[in-house]
Amino acid sequence: MSDSKDNDLPIGIFDSGVGGLTVLKAINAELPDENLVYLGDTARLPYGTKSPASIARYATQATEKLKMQGIKLLVVACNTASAVALDALRAQMSPLPVIGVVEPGATAAVGARPGGSHLVLATEATVALGAYRRAIKTLDPAATVREQACELLVALAEEGWTEGDIASKVIRRYLDEATEGDFRPESIILGCTHFPLLKDSIQAAASDEVLIVDSANTTAAVVSDTLRSDRTLRVSDKAGTLRFLATDGVTRFARIGGRFLGQPLSDTEIELVDL
Ligand code: DGL
Repeated sequence: MSDSKDNDLPIGIFDSGVGGLTVLKAINAELPDENLVYLGDTARLPYGTKSPASIARYATQATEKLKMQGIKLLVVACNTASAVALDALRAQMSPLPVIGVVEPGATAAVGARPGGSHLVLATEATVALGAYRRAIKTLDPAATVREQACELLVALAEEGWTEGDIASKVIRRYLDEATEGDFRPESIILGCTHFPLLKDSIQAAASDEVLIVDSANTTAAVVSDTLRSDRTLRVSDKAGTLRFLATDGVTRFARIGGRFLGQPLSDTEIELVDL
């Protein structure tokens, strides 16, 4: 696909809710010419506490919706959906490329701390599947990995309680549990879309030498490399357009999503869709 009309097709980005806007932001910064269409499945959020069968079904339906919009590449910005359903979504979108967030996060961590010890903070479903452990061990068999489910951090990020006493205490509690038995991580991987908002508080609770890995930028770099090698990059003197779709609650999407995006969103910018 190297026809320039096809290059104008948007990149589809899918998440269970607004958290994936951190990934959209990174892609938009890396590739400002690209048209982006974002789908947040807010009606069925959170995915992180659901069963793999439900998550796979939801992810398949969301992917179908974006496929119908006409996209040139799909980014599964949701860690949980990436952990559960990436292979199925790749088969569904074939021959178009599908990029998840687990592998780019793992790549960034092992690149920065080869042979190191890594702590993955993620949702229950992502941890139960051990997706980060597998990705890290495949890239670096000498690495040590621990995974910690941190469901409360999702709620704190949505509530905007990302700093202060409550956030610190909750993070401390999870880190204490994760480091039991004298495990000293050299990197902490933010294996959930919501956790970049808590990055400063997580860094403050860990020691200064611990590297906090956020997969958004690495994912954006993989998207850029893929479009370049497929010759589907959009080059234009006009900035790309951003489109936002949600399956429920456009007002809440705009209010909370603006924080994840780092700029205000109006509910008039969000289209309500059914899957
Ligand atoms: N988007 C999810 C993830 O990155 C977090 C929110 C949810 O549980 O749906 O794992």
